[in-house]
This record gives sequence, C-alpha cells and structure tokens, in this order.
Amino acid sequence: MSQSIQSVRGMNDILPGESESWEQFEETVRAWLRSYGYQPIRLPLVEPTPLFTRAIGEVTDIVEKEMYSFEDSLNGEQLTLRPEGTAGCVRAVIQHNLAAQRPQRLYYMGPMFRHERPQKGRYRQFNQVGVEAFGFAGPDIDAELILMGARLWDDLGLDSVKLQINSLGQLDERVKYRAELVTYFEKYADQLDEDARRRLHANPLRILDSKNPAMQDIIKGAPSLSRCLGAESMAHFEGVQQVLRDVGLPYEINPRLVRGLDYYNLTVFEWVTDRLGAQGAVCAGGRYDGLVGQLGGKPMPACGFAMGVERLVALMRESWGDPEPQGVDVYLVHQGDAAARLAPRVAERLRDEGLDVLFHCGGGSFKSQMKKADASGATFAVIIGDDEAEAGEVTLKALRAEGNQDKQDKKQKRVSVDQIADEIMNVFFDGDDI
Ligand code: HAM
Repeated sequence: MSQSIQSVRGMNDILPGESESWEQFEETVRAWLRSYGYQPIRLPLVEPTPLFTRAIGEVTDIVEKEMYSFEDSLNGEQLTLRPEGTAGCVRAVIQHNLAAQRPQRLYYMGPMFRHERPQKGRYRQFNQVGVEAFGFAGPDIDAELILMGARLWDDLGLDSVKLQINSLGQLDERVKYRAELVTYFEKYADQLDEDARRRLHANPLRILDSKNPAMQDIIKGAPSLSRCLGAESMAHFEGVQQVLRDVGLPYEINPRLVRGLDYYNLTVFEWVTDRLGAQGAVCAGGRYDGLVGQLGGKPMPACGFAMGVERLVALMRESWGDPEPQGVDVYLVHQGDAAARLAPRVAERLRDEGLDVLFHCGGGSFKSQMKKADASGATFAVIIGDDEAEAGEVTLKALRAEGNQDKQDKKQKRVSVDQIADEIMNVFFDGDDI
C-alpha cells in the first residue's frame, strides 16, 4: 500500500463537527460588519514579496523569519503567501484608487500564513477577519473600531475578552523615544538576548515586544513612550479614550503595547483573553497613517484591526460547545426501477419549495434506508416504492414524532406527488398532524 500524505504541520483541516462553529462565527461576523456599514473586499493570497518587507518592516519577526516566500519558477517573480491582510488591502486601495472620492470602510476574511512554531492557538495557516478604514483622521474612527470589537464579543457570547490600548505617537516622537530606549538598553547590553542585541540599533521598540521571561525585568524598567508624546498625539489618544469612557467600555492602558508590525502610529490596541493559555491576543490593530504614502499612494489616514478566527472559535467552543448538527427536512428513500426514476424529480420539486433534501444514494433494502433516514436527523422520510411510483404518490413519514412507537408508526400517510410539499409545509408551519 502506498504511504498516505499528511497535511503540512501547523496547517489544519477543520472537520464537520467543528466547522459548524466556524459557519456560525462567520454568519455572526457578516451581520455585525453590515451593521457598521463595512464592505467586503477580496484580496489575493499571494503578493509581491517587497509589499510585505516595505509595509511590515525589515526588522520584524514576520519579515525576518516567518514569511513563506518563494520565486515563481515560471517567471522569476519574488512572491510571498500573505502573512497578514493590511498590506494587500492598502495595495488594492492604491491600485484601484478606492478612497479618492470618499472614505472607505472595508473588511476581508481568509487565511494568512506565518512560519511560526505551531502550538495551541498558533498556526502556520490561520484565518483572520480584518477591518480597515481609509480616509478618517480623527479619533472617532479609532473608537468606532474598538467599540465594534466589544459588540462582536457580546454577539458571540464571549465575556473574557479585555481591551488594552496605547499610543505610539508620531514618527518624530518615536525617533526621540527610540534614542532614549537605545541609551537605556545599552546599559544592559550584556543581559540582552540575541534577538534584542540584533534589534538594539535597528528596531529597539521591538525589544519591548519580547516574550523572553529572562528579559521581562529589564523591559519593565524601560522608559515609557508616553513621555515623548507631544500635545497633538496626546489629544488624539484622549479623544479615543473619551468615547470609550462615554459608552462605558472598560480599558487598560498598556504602555508596553508596541505591536509586532512597523506601520503603526498613534492608537494601537489589543483584545486579550486569559482563557487560551499563551496565545491570548484574539484581535489587534491600530492606526497606520503613513502606510498608504509609504506604499506609493497619495497619503491618507487609515486605521484597522484583525482578529484570529481560530482563537475566537476556540473561545466560543469552550464557552458554548459545538452547535447541534442540523438535520435536513427530508430524507428521500426509494426502491425499485420506477421509484428510482421518480425520486430525483420529487427531490428537486421539494428543493424548489425551499426544503432541504438528503437523497438516498447507493440502493439497499427499505429497512436499511430507513435506518439511514433516522440517523440523518431528518424531520421526514419521503418513501417511494414501485407501487407508489405507479400511482404517482409517495409515503410521507414523520421521523421525529413525539410519543410511543405505536403512535409514531401511525404518523405516515400516502399523498400524491403534487401535494407532498404542501403536506410538509402544513406540518411545519401549522403544526398539523400527519
Ligand atoms: P497581528 O497582531 O499580527 O496583526 O494579527 C492579528 C491577530 O491574528 C492576532 O491578534 C491573533 O489573534 C491572530 N494571529 C496572528 N498570528 C497567528 C497565528 N500564527 N496563529 C493563529 N492566530 C494568529 C495583523 O495581522 C494586522 N494586520 C492587524 C491590523 C489590521 N492592523 C491594522 N489593520
């Protein structure tokens, strides 16, 4: 026997049983996005590699060690499987001149790829729902994006997700801060790990993001960025907080929240839970006013976030379990040649009426087909034998009738093919007995 092939490490199948929770999540998310007026945008999974190096930053974990980059052997192009959605979304906004006339509120959903060490909640292919707003400069949109998160957790029935916010100020303020950080970390040069030493001069803010427990004391003592913020940046941050206070949304200011991607300025935020172990960030984002200009577009303010679907579905399943599998309305049982010819037409007719029909395939005795009908969770069996087929009729049987077997057995009757859909509808909507 030849050897079977397994999926790539860190890239998972989502099987029936769990995938119903994903669909429930996606339905809730689509309704939620509509309620805020965001429009869907669909973007390629593969982009030119320089898009990500320029947008996310050369000295970041993602660009340094997590991108699936390759040369297209057919034409030599340097390509990358998208590690996140913001860069591609900005590229599309510039390429199609999307926000030239008016601001845009956009969202996308789909898989992202990062070559990280797989563990619970951290995968190499994972899914994000990303939300991006282009053309708004004021703190009102930052606040809207944050409030959106709070509403979604509520819609999903999640109560363990907490908000952390920070302001990274503007570029010139970060340059000042960067100098202070370098001076500070240089004092501890011999205690810095290899990553931190490499980043000390290239990107010292990234050191604050380190998860290395041995570095946490040094990081705690580092000067805080807020000292370097000017009046305008402070006012913007205060504007965001004012809205959060006005609507009564609790938040924590986390001065160490610097984010792992370089494009941010002013507001950054993360939604975190303590229910998922080490991978507690379920949603994160912030403002990136410089990115559109940096990628060749007419400069434009922008702000957004992305959430990790695997982590949120894990939270939902932990809180609520998986939804009950929904049986179809009708399982169609048929035996005999005449029945086999009538059955597909009956099934299509029922579907015309909006009923969900599982059509028995593969033959077998009435008894074995009825067992399958029962196990399928269907509400009714529609049974066609040759004698029914010749009379232009079917037998309709309720599979989910309450009460004893005796009573259940009586819950069936023959009806003409023309009446079958009406009969079923009557039972569904008017509660008629069969
Ligand atoms: P990010 O923080 O890199 O931001 O990712 C956002 C979320 O994606 C994380 O909070 C987490 O829930 C999920 N996530 C990230 N990596 C993994 C992984 N390996 N496995 C499972 N889930 C993961 C961004 O991607 C930005 N583009 C967000 C943004 C949009 N900022 C502005 N607009």
